[in-house]
Amino acid sequence: MDRSLVIVKPDGVQRGLTGEVISRIERRGYRLVAVKMLQVPRSLAESHYAVHAGKSFYDGLVSYICSSPVVVMVWEGKKVIEAVRQVVGATNPTNAAPGTLRGDYAVEVGRNHVHASDSPENGQAEVALWFRPEELVAWERIGENWLYE
Ligand code: RTP
Ligand code: MG
Repeated sequence: MDRSLVIVKPDGVQRGLTGEVISRIERRGYRLVAVKMLQVPRSLAESHYAVHAGKSFYDGLVSYICSSPVVVMVWEGKKVIEAVRQVVGATNPTNAAPGTLRGDYAVEVGRNHVHASDSPENGQAEVALWFRPEELVAWERIGENWLYE
């Protein structure tokens, strides 16, 4: 089963969007298997954003994710990577469709208030970076019989 790591970034937490992010993914049909709040240490931010090291926005990005607490979570389900990226919307909120989290609640790319894994491989790697295996809870939602054929 694929997993997506989702982060409500500092601006999302400060703006009171944590519940909205969780609610939209939950109502889509996905299963929350881990969640915690933390102040991100710089070393973790640098590992998470290593793919962007050297880019013009990298330093600002690392400072931003460390600037105030985040809520980080793991979601499971069929096609969870693609579906959660749809719910989140395009990276630049100007290009994000209405009805997406970024299209409804963001203005600038550097304050797009939510992160979601972009491939199954990165999902597994990001979950391993942010959570210990024992922090993930194995369970089934009662409605899953009605979600899957
Ligand atoms: P995320 O990783 O946060 O889910 O966002 P994403 O996949 O949609 O975008 P990605 O290319 O992975 O970029 C990570 C974050 O870096 C910031 N960014 N700024 N100024 C810029 O041109 C720029 N490009 C990216 C955004 O905060 C983006 O979410
Ligand atoms: Mg990304």
